Parts: sequence; C-alpha cells; structure tokens
Amino acid sequence: MSKIAVYPGSFDPFTVGHLDIAERASALFDELIVAVVHNPNKTPMFSLVERVELVERSLSEAGLSNIRVVALESGLLVDLCADVEADVIVKGARSATDVDFELPMAQINRELSGIETVILVSAPELSHISSSLVRQVAQNGGDVSKFVPKAVLKITNKRSN
Ligand code: PNS
Repeated sequence: MSKIAVYPGSFDPFTVGHLDIAERASALFDELIVAVVHNPNKTPMFSLVERVELVERSLSEAGLSNIRVVALESGLLVDLCADVEADVIVKGARSATDVDFELPMAQINRELSGIETVILVSAPELSHISSSLVRQVAQNGGDVSKFVPKAVLKITNKRSN
C-alpha cells in the first residue's frame, strides 16, 4: 500500500534546511505533500500565497517536481491530512528543543486522528538555520544566500531593501 506523508510548517521563509528535509522525506514515502500552514502564534513576513509560491519554486529549482505543495489557511492539520489521505506527518528537528516542541503536537495529532508523526533529524551542517534567524538577518541587511534557496533569496532581498 502506498504511503502518503505531509510535511507541514509555516515556512516563513522556506530555508535550505526545510529543502533538505523535504528531499529526504520524499525518498522515504511514495508521495510527499508540503503543507504551508497558518500559525496563529506568528505574524508572517510573507503571505500564505507567497510562501506557497516560494516553496514550489524552491522544489522545482532543486528538481523535486514530484512533491506537491498545498496551503492550509485555517483549521487543523489533521483535517488536511484526512483530506489528502495522508498516513504520516513529517517534521524536522534541529535540536532537543525542537523535539520537546514537536512532541506534544505529535501526541495531540495522534490523539485527534490516529496519525503518526515521523521526525527526521536535521543535517548537522544545517542545524543552525531557522526561518526566524533568516528573517532577522535579511531585515537588517545581511546576506542570507547560504541559508535559503535561490528562489527565496530573490524575494527576501527585495522585501528587506
Ligand atoms: O513551522 P512551524 O510554525 O513550527 O509549524 C507549526 C505548524 C504550522 C505545523 C503547527 O502550528 C500546526 O500544525 N498548525 C495548524 C493548526 C493545528 O492543527 N494545530 C494543532 C497542532 S497540535
């Protein structure tokens, strides 16, 4: 039976760390769907529509045209997972702090719908990269070219000028 996985996140913006997780997850499952999700606790730098476009362009640049991208503007992740018939949620963890943060979400999502969460550990050379640091560096005129895919760099540079 084919296994469908959803990789959710705010992706504000999508980083090379996210791209690495997406690429590795797509090799583990029959289908991978990246879900660009609203997060009520965050005020985004990029709109949901922009973030979806940036993820799509980044995946295409990387030759990962087999990965679908969807948006979740409101509502629960588990409902999106049910809609796309996903078996698994994929998350990336860069540190024990990330695991601590992900654990209750994985437990709640499993209690809500029975869906399992698989956590992929980040590549050590990418574990310092986060969207929030990218935003901070970009908004203060710094060079984020090592941290984001080319498609994201263009708009990040424009937005922070
Ligand atoms: O990249 P982020 O912001 O850490 O991702 C968190 C995200 C968006 C995956 C999480 O906040 C989420 O799943 N939001 C959707 C609403 C939801 O289902 N909340 C209950 C999860 S326990």
